[in-house]
Amino acid sequence: MSARKIIIDTDPGQDDAVAILLALASPDEIDVLGLTAVAGNVPLDLTSKNARIICELAGKVDVPVFGGCDRPLSRKLVTAEHVHGKTGLDGPDLPDPEMQLQEQHGVDFIIDTLRAHPAGRITLCPLGPLTNIATAFQKAPDVVDKVAEIVLMGGAYFEVGNITPAAEFNIYVDPEAADIVFRSGVPITVMPLDVTHKALVTKERNDAFRNIGTPVGMAVAQMTDFFERFDKEKYGSQGAPLHDPCVTAYLIRPELFTGRHVNVEIETTSELTLGMTVADWWRVTDRTPNALFIGDLDADGFFSLLTERLARL
Ligand code: BDR
Ligand code: CA
Repeated sequence: MSARKIIIDTDPGQDDAVAILLALASPDEIDVLGLTAVAGNVPLDLTSKNARIICELAGKVDVPVFGGCDRPLSRKLVTAEHVHGKTGLDGPDLPDPEMQLQEQHGVDFIIDTLRAHPAGRITLCPLGPLTNIATAFQKAPDVVDKVAEIVLMGGAYFEVGNITPAAEFNIYVDPEAADIVFRSGVPITVMPLDVTHKALVTKERNDAFRNIGTPVGMAVAQMTDFFERFDKEKYGSQGAPLHDPCVTAYLIRPELFTGRHVNVEIETTSELTLGMTVADWWRVTDRTPNALFIGDLDADGFFSLLTERLARL
């Protein structure tokens, strides 16, 4: 089988960085056509810079990186420096990128790429707020039907929320964009907190990254060390969840994950539960299923894959 063509839409973010590294380390399965940065964990100038830092760390300087939307569709940007640090990529000491940002806007890159391929060839992989994807769908409705699949990190059902008691960060930051995407009719696979909270970087798993003994292994160990401080304190768990790499791992080894095909709707009006992903996990309504909502993973298999692939860079 030929490699799946994808666009990674991202707000790096240490866990975004690991997701991108995993994709770039797996050319047999994944062909990364480009990275589009979006405002999220930190503002756009930093996410678009961090995306290039990661490509350079991976030695993949020919992957084009585009700047996208600098704010949600209709709300003020909420960021997460309290989790990811001031730069968004705190932890390792990585050099400023030499790679230039592409001149084209990320949204136009998404549109042009979809238009340039037959329907069903391009998979979109959003790892941050869904602003770029929703903007592309609004600006060019003809491209919606051309998307093969969207595999995204966002939302929660059993784990409910991490930025508010009811909402997960990526969906909360731009709920209107998420609403557009979930209503688009494109096949969607969701990696919610329900699964990512089972992908925990324990001390042994962090040591395995470090023991790869390469700059990539060391940087990933330092990145996961950094946000572990925050998450361990918050959840009292053994280690921090590695959210976004669930998306790229799913593209390589979907059999590591299990979920249910259910209806997912986004709360866009209630102040109390804004950004909640209302997933009909128990199928108590007759609403049409619109997403494969992942609930579990083989965590050891996931971390073995990650360590094995990162060692290739
Ligand atoms: C999501 O929010 C961000 O902080 C992470 O990068 C991840 O995409 C987890 O809620
Ligand atoms: Ca992210």
